[in-house]
Amino acid sequence: MTDMERRGRATEAFFGRRKGKALREQQAETLNNLLPAFLIDLSAAPPEPLTSLFPVPVQTLRLEIGFGGGEHLMHRALETPSTGFIGVEPFVNSMQKLLARVGETGASNIRVYNDDATQLLDWLPDGSLDQIDLLYPDPWPKRKHWKRRFVSKTNLDRFHRVLKPGGLFCFASDIDTYVNWTLIKCRDHGGFDWVAENAADWLTPYEGWPSTRYEAKARREGRSSAYLTFRKI
Ligand SMILES: C[S@@+](CC[C@H](N)C(=O)[O-])C[C@H]1O[C@@H](n2cnc3c(N)ncnc32)[C@H](O)[C@@H]1O
Repeated sequence: MTDMERRGRATEAFFGRRKGKALREQQAETLNNLLPAFLIDLSAAPPEPLTSLFPVPVQTLRLEIGFGGGEHLMHRALETPSTGFIGVEPFVNSMQKLLARVGETGASNIRVYNDDATQLLDWLPDGSLDQIDLLYPDPWPKRKHWKRRFVSKTNLDRFHRVLKPGGLFCFASDIDTYVNWTLIKCRDHGGFDWVAENAADWLTPYEGWPSTRYEAKARREGRSSAYLTFRKI
Protein backbone atom coordinates (compact mmCIF):
# COMPACT_ATOMS: atom_id res chain seq x y z
CA MET A 1 0.00 0.00 0.00
CA THR A 2 1.34 3.47 -0.85
CA ASP A 3 1.54 6.28 1.74
CA MET A 4 -1.23 8.03 -0.15
CA GLU A 5 -3.52 5.03 0.08
CA ARG A 6 -2.67 4.56 3.76
CA ARG A 7 -3.51 8.19 4.53
CA GLY A 8 -6.74 7.89 2.57
CA ARG A 9 -7.80 5.01 4.78
CA ALA A 10 -6.55 6.67 7.94
CA THR A 11 -9.86 7.55 9.48
CA GLU A 12 -12.11 4.98 7.87
CA ALA A 13 -13.07 3.42 11.18
CA PHE A 14 -12.41 6.19 13.64
CA PHE A 15 -15.26 8.57 14.34
CA GLY A 16 -14.66 9.38 18.01
CA ARG A 17 -12.91 12.18 19.85
CA ARG A 18 -9.13 12.33 19.90
CA LYS A 19 -8.87 14.93 22.66
CA GLY A 20 -10.76 15.61 25.88
CA LYS A 21 -9.87 17.86 28.80
CA ALA A 22 -6.54 19.65 28.25
CA LEU A 23 -3.71 17.71 29.87
CA ARG A 24 -2.09 19.27 32.94
CA GLU A 25 1.55 20.23 32.48
CA GLN A 26 2.87 17.14 34.24
CA GLN A 27 0.52 14.86 32.31
CA ALA A 28 1.66 16.38 29.01
CA GLU A 29 5.26 15.85 30.11
CA THR A 30 4.62 12.17 30.87
CA LEU A 31 3.04 11.74 27.45
CA ASN A 32 5.82 13.56 25.61
CA ASN A 33 8.55 11.69 27.48
CA LEU A 34 7.13 8.19 27.22
CA LEU A 35 5.23 8.10 23.94
CA PRO A 36 8.30 8.10 21.64
CA ALA A 37 9.76 5.08 23.44
CA PHE A 38 6.56 3.03 23.28
CA LEU A 39 4.99 4.17 20.01
CA ILE A 40 5.12 1.81 17.03
CA ASP A 41 6.50 3.57 13.97
CA LEU A 42 4.40 2.55 10.99
CA SER A 43 6.72 4.31 8.56
CA ALA A 44 9.31 1.56 9.21
CA ALA A 45 8.79 -2.02 8.10
CA PRO A 46 7.65 -4.38 10.87
CA PRO A 47 10.68 -5.98 12.56
CA GLU A 48 11.36 -9.65 11.98
CA PRO A 49 10.36 -11.41 14.08
CA LEU A 50 7.58 -9.09 15.25
CA THR A 51 8.26 -10.15 18.86
CA SER A 52 11.44 -8.05 18.66
CA LEU A 53 9.23 -4.95 18.96
CA PHE A 54 9.65 -5.61 22.66
CA PRO A 55 12.88 -5.20 24.63
CA VAL A 56 12.08 -8.35 26.62
CA PRO A 57 11.60 -11.86 25.22
CA VAL A 58 7.93 -12.59 24.53
CA GLN A 59 6.40 -15.77 23.16
CA THR A 60 2.94 -14.60 22.13
CA LEU A 61 1.48 -11.36 20.74
CA ARG A 62 -1.84 -9.80 21.61
CA LEU A 63 -3.53 -6.66 20.27
CA GLU A 64 -6.10 -4.58 22.17
CA ILE A 65 -8.10 -2.14 20.04
CA GLY A 66 -9.51 0.95 21.81
CA PHE A 67 -8.07 0.30 25.27
CA GLY A 68 -9.79 3.36 26.81
CA GLY A 69 -8.74 3.73 30.46
CA GLY A 70 -6.21 0.92 29.87
CA GLU A 71 -7.38 -1.10 32.92
CA HIS A 72 -7.61 -4.33 30.97
CA LEU A 73 -4.41 -3.85 28.98
CA MET A 74 -2.33 -3.07 32.09
CA HIS A 75 -3.84 -5.94 34.01
CA ARG A 76 -3.09 -8.44 31.24
CA ALA A 77 0.41 -7.08 30.63
CA LEU A 78 1.35 -7.45 34.29
CA GLU A 79 -0.38 -10.83 34.56
CA THR A 80 1.36 -12.26 31.46
CA PRO A 81 4.92 -10.91 31.09
CA SER A 82 5.70 -13.52 28.42
CA THR A 83 3.12 -11.94 26.08
CA GLY A 84 3.82 -8.79 24.10
CA PHE A 85 0.83 -6.43 24.09
CA ILE A 86 0.06 -3.85 21.42
CA GLY A 87 -2.51 -1.32 22.57
CA VAL A 88 -4.24 1.05 20.18
CA GLU A 89 -6.07 4.17 21.33
CA PRO A 90 -6.48 7.47 19.44
CA PHE A 91 -7.87 9.35 22.48
CA VAL A 92 -4.95 11.39 23.83
CA ASN A 93 -6.11 11.50 27.46
CA SER A 94 -6.43 7.70 27.55
CA MET A 95 -2.97 7.24 26.03
CA GLN A 96 -1.52 9.55 28.68
CA LYS A 97 -3.23 7.56 31.42
CA LEU A 98 -1.90 4.26 30.13
CA LEU A 99 1.65 5.52 29.70
CA ALA A 100 1.64 6.95 33.23
CA ARG A 101 0.78 3.44 34.51
CA VAL A 102 3.41 1.88 32.26
CA GLY A 103 5.94 4.32 33.75
CA GLU A 104 4.86 3.50 37.32
CA THR A 105 4.90 -0.27 36.87
CA GLY A 106 7.91 -0.54 34.55
CA ALA A 107 5.96 -2.90 32.25
CA SER A 108 8.15 -3.47 29.21
CA ASN A 109 5.88 -5.85 27.31
CA ILE A 110 3.63 -3.05 25.99
CA ARG A 111 3.81 -1.09 22.75
CA VAL A 112 1.21 1.40 21.58
CA TYR A 113 -0.27 3.04 18.54
CA ASN A 114 -2.17 6.32 18.88
CA ASP A 115 -4.41 6.46 15.83
CA ASP A 116 -6.98 4.36 13.97
CA ALA A 117 -6.40 0.65 14.58
CA THR A 118 -7.01 -0.10 10.88
CA GLN A 119 -3.64 1.55 10.11
CA LEU A 120 -1.84 -0.67 12.57
CA LEU A 121 -3.67 -3.74 11.29
CA ASP A 122 -2.59 -2.97 7.73
CA TRP A 123 1.03 -2.65 8.89
CA LEU A 124 1.11 -5.98 10.73
CA PRO A 125 2.52 -9.01 8.92
CA ASP A 126 0.30 -11.94 7.95
CA GLY A 127 -0.30 -14.49 10.70
CA SER A 128 1.54 -12.51 13.37
CA LEU A 129 -0.92 -12.28 16.29
CA ASP A 130 -2.20 -14.81 18.79
CA GLN A 131 -5.17 -12.74 19.93
CA ILE A 132 -7.14 -9.59 19.19
CA ASP A 133 -9.27 -8.01 21.93
CA LEU A 134 -12.07 -5.62 21.00
CA LEU A 135 -13.64 -4.75 24.33
CA TYR A 136 -16.69 -2.51 24.46
CA PRO A 137 -16.11 -0.90 21.08
CA ASP A 138 -18.07 2.29 20.42
CA PRO A 139 -21.61 0.89 20.06
CA TRP A 140 -23.17 3.27 17.51
CA PRO A 141 -26.66 2.20 18.62
CA LYS A 142 -28.61 4.15 15.98
CA ARG A 143 -29.24 2.05 12.90
CA LYS A 144 -28.09 4.82 10.55
CA HIS A 145 -24.66 4.69 12.30
CA TRP A 146 -24.22 0.91 12.33
CA LYS A 147 -21.87 1.17 9.36
CA ARG A 148 -19.43 2.99 11.66
CA ARG A 149 -19.06 -0.03 13.91
CA PHE A 150 -15.55 -1.43 14.06
CA VAL A 151 -16.76 -4.94 13.31
CA SER A 152 -17.26 -5.06 9.55
CA LYS A 153 -16.45 -7.44 6.72
CA THR A 154 -13.36 -5.33 5.90
CA ASN A 155 -12.04 -5.35 9.45
CA LEU A 156 -12.78 -9.06 9.87
CA ASP A 157 -10.69 -9.62 6.73
CA ARG A 158 -7.93 -7.64 8.46
CA PHE A 159 -8.25 -9.69 11.65
CA HIS A 160 -8.21 -12.89 9.66
CA ARG A 161 -5.05 -11.90 7.81
CA VAL A 162 -3.03 -10.87 10.88
CA LEU A 163 -4.11 -13.69 13.22
CA LYS A 164 -2.11 -16.91 13.38
CA PRO A 165 -4.04 -20.06 12.45
CA GLY A 166 -6.19 -20.82 15.51
CA GLY A 167 -5.70 -17.25 16.80
CA LEU A 168 -8.51 -15.70 18.82
CA PHE A 169 -10.75 -12.69 18.33
CA CYS A 170 -12.42 -11.67 21.62
CA PHE A 171 -15.33 -9.24 21.58
CA ALA A 172 -17.20 -7.90 24.64
CA SER A 173 -20.21 -5.61 24.55
CA ASP A 174 -23.27 -4.61 26.55
CA ILE A 175 -25.23 -3.60 23.44
CA ASP A 176 -27.52 -6.42 22.23
CA THR A 177 -27.72 -5.20 18.66
CA TYR A 178 -23.89 -5.04 18.44
CA VAL A 179 -23.52 -8.55 19.88
CA ASN A 180 -25.97 -9.91 17.30
CA TRP A 181 -24.30 -7.85 14.58
CA THR A 182 -20.90 -9.36 15.45
CA LEU A 183 -22.23 -12.92 15.57
CA ILE A 184 -23.80 -12.46 12.12
CA LYS A 185 -20.75 -10.72 10.61
CA CYS A 186 -18.42 -13.46 11.86
CA ARG A 187 -20.75 -16.25 10.68
CA ASP A 188 -21.11 -14.64 7.24
CA HIS A 189 -17.38 -14.04 6.99
CA GLY A 190 -16.72 -17.76 7.15
CA GLY A 191 -13.17 -17.49 8.50
CA PHE A 192 -14.04 -17.69 12.19
CA ASP A 193 -15.59 -20.28 14.48
CA TRP A 194 -17.59 -19.07 17.47
CA VAL A 195 -16.22 -21.26 20.24
CA ALA A 196 -19.25 -21.08 22.61
CA GLU A 197 -20.89 -24.38 23.45
CA ASN A 198 -23.57 -23.10 25.80
CA ALA A 199 -24.96 -19.81 27.17
CA ALA A 200 -22.57 -19.82 30.12
CA ASP A 201 -19.67 -19.53 27.67
CA TRP A 202 -20.72 -16.14 26.40
CA LEU A 203 -22.31 -14.83 29.60
CA THR A 204 -19.22 -15.56 31.70
CA PRO A 205 -16.38 -13.03 31.55
CA TYR A 206 -13.03 -14.18 30.21
CA GLU A 207 -10.68 -15.87 32.68
CA GLY A 208 -8.96 -13.39 34.94
CA TRP A 209 -11.22 -10.60 33.65
CA PRO A 210 -10.52 -7.31 35.49
CA SER A 211 -13.51 -5.46 34.00
CA THR A 212 -13.21 -2.07 32.28
CA ARG A 213 -14.50 1.44 32.77
CA TYR A 214 -17.18 1.02 30.11
CA GLU A 215 -18.32 -2.23 31.62
CA ALA A 216 -18.72 -0.52 35.01
CA LYS A 217 -20.85 2.15 33.32
CA ALA A 218 -22.99 -0.52 31.65
CA ARG A 219 -23.60 -2.20 35.01
CA ARG A 220 -24.56 1.10 36.66
CA GLU A 221 -27.06 1.60 33.85
CA GLY A 222 -28.43 -1.93 34.31
CA ARG A 223 -27.03 -3.62 31.19
CA SER A 224 -25.37 -7.04 31.20
CA SER A 225 -22.67 -8.12 28.76
CA ALA A 226 -21.75 -10.80 26.29
CA TYR A 227 -18.19 -12.10 25.95
CA LEU A 228 -17.72 -13.67 22.53
CA THR A 229 -14.68 -15.67 21.44
CA PHE A 230 -14.01 -16.59 17.81
CA ARG A 231 -11.21 -18.79 16.56
CA LYS A 232 -9.60 -18.23 13.18
CA ILE A 233 -10.25 -21.21 10.96
C1 LIG B 1 -16.53 2.64 24.33
S1 LIG B 1 -14.81 2.91 24.51
C2 LIG B 1 -14.27 1.45 25.39
C3 LIG B 1 -12.94 1.61 26.05
C4 LIG B 1 -12.42 0.40 26.80
N1 LIG B 1 -12.17 -0.72 25.90
C5 LIG B 1 -13.36 0.00 27.91
O1 LIG B 1 -13.95 -1.09 27.83
O2 LIG B 1 -13.48 0.77 28.88
C6 LIG B 1 -14.21 2.62 22.86
C7 LIG B 1 -12.78 3.08 22.66
O3 LIG B 1 -12.38 2.75 21.35
C8 LIG B 1 -11.59 3.79 20.82
N2 LIG B 1 -11.69 3.71 19.34
C9 LIG B 1 -12.73 4.05 18.56
N3 LIG B 1 -12.46 3.84 17.27
C10 LIG B 1 -11.20 3.33 17.22
C11 LIG B 1 -10.34 2.94 16.16
N4 LIG B 1 -10.73 2.99 14.89
N5 LIG B 1 -9.11 2.48 16.47
C12 LIG B 1 -8.72 2.40 17.76
N6 LIG B 1 -9.49 2.77 18.82
C13 LIG B 1 -10.71 3.23 18.55
C14 LIG B 1 -12.21 5.06 21.42
O4 LIG B 1 -11.30 6.16 21.44
C15 LIG B 1 -12.59 4.59 22.81
O5 LIG B 1 -11.58 4.81 23.75
